[in-house]
Amino acid sequence: MEILKFPHPDLFRPCKEVTVFSPELKVLLESMLETMKANNGMGLAANQVGLPWRMFVFKDEKNEFYCVNPKIIARGLEMANQKEGCLSAPGEFVVVPDRNKWVKLEYQDAEGVKNWIVAYDISAVCIQHEIDHLDGKSHLQSKSIPKRKRMELAKKWGFKVK
Ligand code: CO
Repeated sequence: MEILKFPHPDLFRPCKEVTVFSPELKVLLESMLETMKANNGMGLAANQVGLPWRMFVFKDEKNEFYCVNPKIIARGLEMANQKEGCLSAPGEFVVVPDRNKWVKLEYQDAEGVKNWIVAYDISAVCIQHEIDHLDGKSHLQSKSIPKRKRMELAKKWGFKVK
């Protein structure tokens, strides 16, 4: 699969809830996971490869996950303070200040079975990052990034400045 780069319009389009869990859906998720790993990523959202569905793939040290219709249902008050990168903005690594250090994520797997995980540190940041993608947002435009830096990123990656 080809990974779209900013400012491709698909990256600013919120994704739609998945309602049909077909074998084809699983094939798409498998292909996303392969694409992510081939590009040394730890997470990849559907709209990064031009698919309009609310789903992402990600991996931590031990496991690989297919997260369909993901929803953060709890988060820690402490902040993560981790640099984050993005396959749609290659070479750019920034700290997004308002990332929580841990999150609890509810999701459905490729077959539609409900599951949940609690993730910490870089994994928690990755999950928050992928949810931003599914909402049609870029982490690089987070209001928590100091304005001067945000303007610089907007110019570099072709975002509209608000
Ligand atoms: Co990304």
